[in-house]
Amino acid sequence: MKAWVVRRLGGPETMELEDVNASTPVDGMVRIAIRASAINFFDALMVAGQYQTRPELPFVPGAEISGEVESAPGATGFKKGDRVMAMLDNGGLTRGGYAEVADAMPATVQRLPDGMPFDDGAAFNIIFQTAWFALHRRASLQPGETLLVHAGAGGVGSAAIQLGKAAGATVIATAGSDEKNAVCLELGADHAINYKSHDFAEEVKSFTGGRGADVIFDPVGGDVFDRSTKCIAFEGRIVIVGFTSGRIPQAVASHVLVKNYSVVGLHWGLYSRRAPEHLPIAAAELMKLYAGGKIKPLISTRMPLADAPKALELVAAGKSTGKVLLTI
Ligand SMILES: NC(=O)c1ccc[n+]([C@@H]2O[C@H](COP(=O)([O-])OP(=O)(O)OC[C@H]3O[C@@H](n4cnc5c(N)ncnc54)[C@H](OP(=O)(O)O)[C@@H]3O)[C@@H](O)[C@H]2O)c1
Repeated sequence: MKAWVVRRLGGPETMELEDVNASTPVDGMVRIAIRASAINFFDALMVAGQYQTRPELPFVPGAEISGEVESAPGATGFKKGDRVMAMLDNGGLTRGGYAEVADAMPATVQRLPDGMPFDDGAAFNIIFQTAWFALHRRASLQPGETLLVHAGAGGVGSAAIQLGKAAGATVIATAGSDEKNAVCLELGADHAINYKSHDFAEEVKSFTGGRGADVIFDPVGGDVFDRSTKCIAFEGRIVIVGFTSGRIPQAVASHVLVKNYSVVGLHWGLYSRRAPEHLPIAAAELMKLYAGGKIKPLISTRMPLADAPKALELVAAGKSTGKVLLTI
């Protein structure tokens, strides 16, 4: 089977397309013939060796896929032909998603609900689980509150806008271009701000009558975090989700105190190890929202497996909207 292999760390161009021998699935794993594989921003960090998880070399990137079960030796509950979505751990040459075939641990494999296409299945879990845990578990977003979503046209941002609206919040989104702002409004945002050409903190204050946003969802960091502290409401919560700007900001404890706000972190991947009981609760809520037409992954780009480096570059450079998929 074909797979993009990382043998040395670097940019997307360092990956190499190889024929990998995948003839012996490890007992207890579910072998999946991949139909769609999602590109995530953190894949680029992992390929560069800059992510908190550093798989041993060589490895195949790609953490979320959908496809059909090929075999499941020793893994109960799955049979050949089942339509599934799965999370991968990148631990070796058959456990990454930029490939034709991958092996997943049964606990990370979910059946695709009837009517959910492979593309939605591959793009669903990370963005919606991340946004759900950020907004509900970490920030306790309440109906009627104002939510500010940064990089609202990106993967996790597009999910946060939809979940914010589904929770009954007023949603303000920021994005780096007028085209991306239009995407945020189409996703349901009540107001969108181009944060490259406007001071979003002033606009948020003016939109909220001076009060500020109750919850701020921040996957960008850097200056965006710094300005967010200027438009956070009394008893507001800023959720740190990522640092796509490339700069990890510093929270100023005295400012947190005098303005009565909280800065909370979200590391969604840690829940599977520290508090796995919350994952099925979120999954059930999210599937209900999907079935009810309240949320749907925004998929902007589909590329063949052969174009994986181009697809990863598009996401790493912040040029994509929503999700970019490899279709296989
Ligand atoms: N905490 C967690 O558990 C968790 C889980 C999943 C993902 N994440 C993190 O969340 C962040 C976003 O992930 P994603 O998959 O949604 O990414 P994405 O789809 O690529 O969106 C990221 C957005 O960030 C903005 N951005 C601002 N400065 C940028 C820069 N210098 N380079 C690239 N993009 C820049 C861009 O939007 P504009 O053009 O609008 O500025 C871009 O579209 C990443 O840091 C990722 O690692 C965290």
